[in-house]
Amino acid sequence: MSAIRYEIDQDRVLTLTIDMAEQSANTMNRVFREAFAETIKQLKTDLDEIRGVVITSAKSTFFAGGDLNELHQVTQADAERFEQMVGALKADLRALETCGKPVVAALNGSALGGGLEIAMACHHRIALDDDRIQFGLPEVTLGLLPGGGGTQRLPRMIGLEAALPYLMEGKKATPRAALKAGIIDDVVKTHDEMMAHARAFIDAHPGCQQPWDQKGFRFPGGAPSHPAMAQKLAIAPAMLKQKTRGCYPAPERILSAAVEGAQLDIDNGDLIETRYFTELVTGQVAKNMTGTFWFQLNAIKAGGSRPQGVERTRFRKVGVLGAGMMGAGIAYSTATRGIEVVLKDVSLEAAEKGKQYSEGLLARKVSRGKLSDDDKAATLARITPSTDASDLDGCDLIIEAVFEDSELKANVTRETEPRLATGGLFASNTSTIPITQLASASARPDKFIGLHFFSPVDKMQLVEIIVGKETSDNTLARAFDYVLQIGKVPIVVNDSRGFFTSRVFGTFVNEGVAMLGEGIHPASIENAGVLSGMPVGPLAVCDEVSLSLIQHVRNQSRKDFQATGDTWQPHPAEAVIDTLVDTHHRKGKAAGAGFYEYPTGGKKYLWPELETLFSVTPGAGALPLETLKDRILYIQAIETVRCLEERVLRTVEDANVGSIFGIGFAPWTGGAIQFINQTGVRAFTERAKELADQFGERFSPPALLLDKAGTDTPF
Ligand code: NAI
Repeated sequence: MSAIRYEIDQDRVLTLTIDMAEQSANTMNRVFREAFAETIKQLKTDLDEIRGVVITSAKSTFFAGGDLNELHQVTQADAERFEQMVGALKADLRALETCGKPVVAALNGSALGGGLEIAMACHHRIALDDDRIQFGLPEVTLGLLPGGGGTQRLPRMIGLEAALPYLMEGKKATPRAALKAGIIDDVVKTHDEMMAHARAFIDAHPGCQQPWDQKGFRFPGGAPSHPAMAQKLAIAPAMLKQKTRGCYPAPERILSAAVEGAQLDIDNGDLIETRYFTELVTGQVAKNMTGTFWFQLNAIKAGGSRPQGVERTRFRKVGVLGAGMMGAGIAYSTATRGIEVVLKDVSLEAAEKGKQYSEGLLARKVSRGKLSDDDKAATLARITPSTDASDLDGCDLIIEAVFEDSELKANVTRETEPRLATGGLFASNTSTIPITQLASASARPDKFIGLHFFSPVDKMQLVEIIVGKETSDNTLARAFDYVLQIGKVPIVVNDSRGFFTSRVFGTFVNEGVAMLGEGIHPASIENAGVLSGMPVGPLAVCDEVSLSLIQHVRNQSRKDFQATGDTWQPHPAEAVIDTLVDTHHRKGKAAGAGFYEYPTGGKKYLWPELETLFSVTPGAGALPLETLKDRILYIQAIETVRCLEERVLRTVEDANVGSIFGIGFAPWTGGAIQFINQTGVRAFTERAKELADQFGERFSPPALLLDKAGTDTPF
C-alpha cells in the first residue's frame, strides 16, 4: 500500500491522504518521498480529469516533519547525493503548487517542519480549531533548517520580519495564532466542515497560482532591497550573533537562506536553501544537537534508565514538606499534572504562602489566555496547605524540601514517613547531603530516594534522581514514573558528594574563579564563559549562587573529606572566594555585592577593585581566548568522565542531557560527553594533558578517558 492514498471522486476532486504504514506519524523519509514522487507523476497524468486537490492525513497529526533517523546518518561524503534528493523533493512540491489546479491542505492535526512545508506548497490551508494542534518549523532547535522550502515560502507569505521567529527560533503557533499570523487561511470546528470548506475553495478558485508565481508579486513587508527592510537587515546578523555567540550555525544559515533567497525567484531561493541545509545536516553541531535533544532525550523519556520489570505507577497524592522556594515549586509542578498535593510547613501562613506561589503562576497563564479560570481553580483546589501531619495520610510519595540541615531532615522523615500509603516512597530534595546518610533516619531505607529539583522548579525540566546504598530498583522505577508524570526529565545518579550536576557545576565556577586568581581580566573570564556556549559567565553565576554558600559547601566538603583521613587538595579558587567573603565582605548578589557591583536601579558591573586585588594584567601576559574557553568546557567534561568512571553516572545519555538541562553546559556541544566525542576522544585527551601541564592536575585525563583514547573510541 502506498504511503499516500490517491482518490478521485465523482466531483473530480482528488484527495491525497497521507498514511504511512507502521508509523504513528507521517515523516519525510525515503518511503514518503517515493510515494510523493509517484503521486505527482499520477497527478500530472490525471490533470485534465480533476478540478482540484485536497491533501490530508489519516493520522492524528497531519505530518511530523523530517525523518531524523535518516538525517542523522548523512555524512559529508553523502553531500552531493543528499542535495539531489532534496532537490527532487522540492521539484515535486513546485510541481504541486504550479499544477494550475487549486490545492488545499486540510490540516487535521499538527504540521511541523516538513509537514508545514507541504502545507505551504498548497494554495490554501484549513485547520481544525484545537489548541493542542501546533504549526511550526522547529528544525533550528536541532541545529538544522527547514529544508523543504520553509525559508522561502514562509517569508513570501507573511514577510521576512514576521517569518524570522518561526524560522530562527522554532516558534510554534496554535491554529488561531497561525490564522492571525497568516500562516493558515481558515479555522473550522469539525472534520466535515474542513472538507466542505476545502471543496468550496476549489469551486471558487478553478485556476490557482501561488502569489509568488503571479506577475507583479510584491514581497509582503518589503523585499530585502526595500530601504526600510534593508536598514533592519543590516543589523540582524549582529543581533543574532549576540544571541548565538557564534556557537550555532543553524540560525545564521537560516537568516542567510531567507534573505538571499528573497532577492531571487523561488526556484533559485530553493537552491540556496538546499545548499545551506546540506551544510548544516552534514555539520557537527547538528549531529551533536540531534543526537542529544532528540535521540538521547527520547531514550531517557522512554525509560532508558528505569529498571525493567516494575509495573508503571500513577501517583495520586503527594506530600511536600517545606513550602519555601523549592517546596512551593514542586507543589505547583505536581498539582498542574493532576496530582493531589499536601503542602506542609511549620505554620499555616508559610504553607499558604507556598500555595500562593502557584496562584501567581497560574494567574499569569490565565491573563495570557493560556489557561481557563476553571482550570486554574481546579489546580489550586488540588493543593492543601497544612501544618498537620495527619493530612499526609495515604500519600504515594512524600518529598521533603525543608532547610538544608541533616538533623531537621531526619526529624521530618521520622515524623511523616509512617503517614505514607503502603509501599509509598519518601524522597529528599537535598542539594548536598548524601542520600544514604539521610536514609539512615528512615525505617524503610529501600523506599528512600533523592529527587533533586532545580530552581525555578516550574521552568527547569531536569530532576536528578539519586539512588542511595539501600534504595531498591522498585523505588527507583517508581520515582522515575513520578518525574515523567509531572512532565520532567529524569536522570539517574548514584549517591556521591554533589551528586552529578552540582559536582560538575562546581568545576565550572571554580575554574573561572581560579582564572581571576591568576590575574586574568574578569571581563575576559566572563566573555570566555559565554563564548564557549555557557549561558552566563562563571563569576556572574557565583554571585547568583552566593559566594558565602559556595564557601560554606566547600568548608563542609573539606571537613567530611578530612574526616575520612584523606588529604584535602585546595583548589586555587578557594583563596579568591575567601578574599572576597572574609576580607571584603562581598557575599554575592543577594547581599548586594560580589564579583559584581549592584547599584540600586542600575545595571550590574564588575567590581573595579578586582583588578588591583588580583593584579590583573590586561593584554600582555593574558592567555589566548581559546585557552580560556577550553579550560571552561574541558574541566566540566573531565569531571563528567570521572562521574562515569566512578559509576556516579550510569549512562552517557544521562551525562549529556543532565549536563545541558541541569548546568547549562554549552548546548551546541550536545552535552559534556558528546563534547569529547565531537572533539575526538584522542584529540581531547591530548589537549587535556596539555592543560594539566599548564594549569594543574585537575585536568589530568582519568583512566576511562585514557583507555578510550588508546583506540580513539567515542563514548
Ligand atoms: P527555603 O528556605 O526557601 O524553604 C524551606 C522551607 O522549609 C521554609 O518554608 C521552612 O519554613 C520550611 N520548614 C522548616 N522546617 C520545617 C518542618 N519541620 N516542616 C515543614 N517545613 C519546614 O529553602 P529552599 O531553597 O526551598 O530549599 C529547600 C531544600 O531544597 C533544601 O534542602 C535545599 O538544599 C534544597 N534545594 C535547594 C535548591 C535551591 O536552588 N534553592 C535547589 C535544589 C535543592
